[in-house]
Amino acid sequence: ASVADLAGRRVVVTAGGTREPLDPVRFLGNRSSGKQGVAIAEAAAARGAEVTLIAANLEVASPGGCRVVPVSTALELQEAVTAAAAGADVVVMAAAVADFRPADVSETKIKKVDGQERMSIELVRNPDILAGLGTAPHDGTVLVGFAAETETDPARLLELGRAKRRAKGADLLVVNRVGWTHGFAADENAVSVIAADDTVAAEASGPKMSVAHAILDVIAERVAPGAE
Ligand code: C5P
Repeated sequence: ASVADLAGRRVVVTAGGTREPLDPVRFLGNRSSGKQGVAIAEAAAARGAEVTLIAANLEVASPGGCRVVPVSTALELQEAVTAAAAGADVVVMAAAVADFRPADVSETKIKKVDGQERMSIELVRNPDILAGLGTAPHDGTVLVGFAAETETDPARLLELGRAKRRAKGADLLVVNRVGWTHGFAADENAVSVIAADDTVAAEASGPKMSVAHAILDVIAERVAPGAE
């Protein structure tokens, strides 16, 4: 990878984790810190790209040199990424998006009731944003998904990634193992990048910035030549 191999390319990166409100003071969220997505945005900018970072509740600072669009919920992320993806050369969906959101958002803080030992929250399905982008025509846009899985068997982990890439219509799918102590919020990561022919186009582990460059090496090879 040369230093400026993404010069002038429009790269959109989603990072962080969505928060789905229950009431004015509570939300359903996840443990994604945004570190890997932010590292990809920063690395892409360093390689010359014009980067839009769609930032969902980041626990780290946004990198300089990127346009940052803050979002919180899956629906906000969908609106922001759909707008930014039009005409983009690359869309990287690194954010952890909630599959479901509370069916009703209370206008006031939900109160506990004396004697109540259990309660249930009804959830409704969020749109699958990546699958929406992947199943719509996206010629000229390299679409990259992530799969954060707790599966520990490496072969089964890759199979999950292959199935997910196909199901979502992504051009590349980055698989990473997550757990109580792996992946989310950590400074290091270990990933495999699955290509459209089901091969493993790259494997990388180490600091999230070096993993970001390894992922961008695979992406840069697939960005259509010439078209600025
Ligand atoms: O299905 P799963 O959540 O494992 O898929 C992960 C990939 O799909 C990530 O790239 C994530 O950003 C994206 N995703 C999405 N919309 C959802 C759920 C996940 O775009 N509702």
